[in-house]
Amino acid sequence: MGKNLLIFLSAAGVALLAILLLPTRSPSRSLWKWRRTSADLVVMNATIYTSDHSLPFAEAMAIRNGRILGVGNYSSVKDLVGYGTRELNLNGKVVIPGFIDSHAHFINGGLQMGQVELRGVESQDSFAKKVKEAVKDKVPGEWVLGGGWNNDLWGGDFPCISWIDDISPNNPVWLSRMDGHMGLANSLALKIAGITNDTHNPVGGTIVKTNDGEPTGLLVDSAMKLILSLIPEVSIHGRREAMVRASKYALMRGVTTMTDFGRYFPGASVDHVWHDLSDVYKWADSAGKMLIRVCLFFPMQTWSQVVDLFQEKGRALSQWIYLGGVKAFADGSLGSNSALFYEPYEDDPDNYGLQVTDIDWLLNATLESDKSGLQVAIHAIGDKANDMVLDMFDSVASFNGMRDRRFRIEHAQHLAQGATTRFGQQKVIASVQPDHLLDDADSAEKKLGAFRARKESYLFHSLLAGDALLAFGSDWPVADIYPLRGIKTAMSRVPPGWDAAWIPSERIALNDALKAHTISAAYACFLDHDLGSLSAGKYADFVVLPANSWDEFSSDLPSSVLATYVNGVQAYPSNSM
Ligand SMILES: *[C@@H]1O[C@H](CO)[C@@H](O)[C@H](O)[C@H]1NC(C)=O
Ligand SMILES: *[C@@H]1O[C@H](CO)[C@@H](O)[C@H](O)[C@H]1NC(C)=O
Ligand SMILES: *[C@@H]1O[C@H](CO)[C@@H](O)[C@H](O)[C@H]1NC(C)=O
Ligand SMILES: *[C@@H]1O[C@H](CO)[C@@H](O)[C@H](O)[C@H]1NC(C)=O
Repeated sequence: MGKNLLIFLSAAGVALLAILLLPTRSPSRSLWKWRRTSADLVVMNATIYTSDHSLPFAEAMAIRNGRILGVGNYSSVKDLVGYGTRELNLNGKVVIPGFIDSHAHFINGGLQMGQVELRGVESQDSFAKKVKEAVKDKVPGEWVLGGGWNNDLWGGDFPCISWIDDISPNNPVWLSRMDGHMGLANSLALKIAGITNDTHNPVGGTIVKTNDGEPTGLLVDSAMKLILSLIPEVSIHGRREAMVRASKYALMRGVTTMTDFGRYFPGASVDHVWHDLSDVYKWADSAGKMLIRVCLFFPMQTWSQVVDLFQEKGRALSQWIYLGGVKAFADGSLGSNSALFYEPYEDDPDNYGLQVTDIDWLLNATLESDKSGLQVAIHAIGDKANDMVLDMFDSVASFNGMRDRRFRIEHAQHLAQGATTRFGQQKVIASVQPDHLLDDADSAEKKLGAFRARKESYLFHSLLAGDALLAFGSDWPVADIYPLRGIKTAMSRVPPGWDAAWIPSERIALNDALKAHTISAAYACFLDHDLGSLSAGKYADFVVLPANSWDEFSSDLPSSVLATYVNGVQAYPSNSM
């Protein structure tokens, strides 16, 4: 009896060895079968756009433990269907990789969501109405904060103190413009800040006054600090809530990975991203509250801290939190006439813009960061600032030698002749925000003149033609998180109120726009081995769209998503939202 069992067991052992050692065409596949390892989820009968050029379209995808096991036709994944596999029949619906937003100020955006939302407001009446509603919910003395207004939407006049004073007698109010470079205060806020008829402009800022010398409530650039320094710092709890709120919002728009550049208002300390990392992201990660992946860029001033963390932990702090690199500014913004150009502003003929960071420091810090293996991203909007950064990147690359460094220019908005080909030649990533052109087309033509503006603004097609890599982002909360609209904007370039495209030769194709929000965006933050396409081995982050075929999708891009999956699990819509 015992002997028979022994013989049986050794026979079984030999058979087992044979199974394990047998050469097969696909050894891992037979091993799975033997271990009865099947998929958790099989998405089938879908129109899957993969962002993976080795297999651009597929009909089915198998997922296990949050990763993609296989993508292809149904027969190629049906072996992975086993006991307990959930099959999701999408009836032809379009599936694309989860969007990666390459540039946002994420917690800022989440905070702004909890405040007066003035984005898209088109008249003085609705402006005042929104403020009035917010004041209703506040106790006397409590700050009423908000932002996102764009005076171009009601003809260009700036808002002034009289718009809001009557409705907010007992609460200080501060409402920032969508670009974050100016804001409107009410009388009580000015009073608390001690701003009177006699207050002089601080260096680098303006207290806007009437011809009679009375403050209008508008404060520009560094003058904003007079108010911002008085607003109570948001509590850790408030920032955590803002992050969760922002994550849910991003998921609703199909975004599964967010590149966070931290808080962006002038005067924000360089420690902010570090605080966000420790107080918010690490907390959320250990509490199981991370809903989307984030990739963090830190102020370049803190590069040596980033190097320490990078050497200790590598790029992935967890599957939710990634170290991006360091970021610095070369110039300001177009909206506040501080982007740096070769030619002066049309509406400000002595002004060429500002080089906001000392070039020697910038070069030195870029050299050091790059030598330590960090990725460097630099904000450049004006044509001269972009050339300056391209020159600097070139020197740093030749000084430090060849490596896969993926230098990025954030915005790359206005490019002089020849710059588009330099991005490709130098392998510098153009991290751009298509939706900014909706807000900028009119003002760029005013500020640069139509001829200059049309020659050099948002040159997406030329960049691609020059072999550059385009990564798309939103710059939220400056513009909305809205990849489907950004893609449409890059394809059509029709600003609101226009009936034709702005610089039609710079429109790009759907495939290129999708790549810029998926695989190229993943490459732009060194996450392309794990994210950005629906390929075997990568995380199963994807979006289901309300289109029943590729033709339907490509002929009329939908404006919303049906569902967003992270790690193969439906995250939007979610029951807990
Ligand atoms: C399914 O895909 C496999 C390769 O992945 C291919 O060999 C097979 O012919 C395909 N079957 C059908 C029905 O298209
Ligand atoms: C796949 O979806 C189509 C609709 O696009 C539907 O007609 C068909 O019955 C579905 N096939 C299966 C196997 O469910
Ligand atoms: C500020 O200037 C305005 C306009 O000249 C004037 O009406 C107002 O009384 C002044 N306010 C103070 C406190 O002096
Ligand atoms: C450049 O960096 C080195 C090493 O960090 C430092 O010693 C030097 O002072 C820096 N130079 C400038 C101009 O910042």
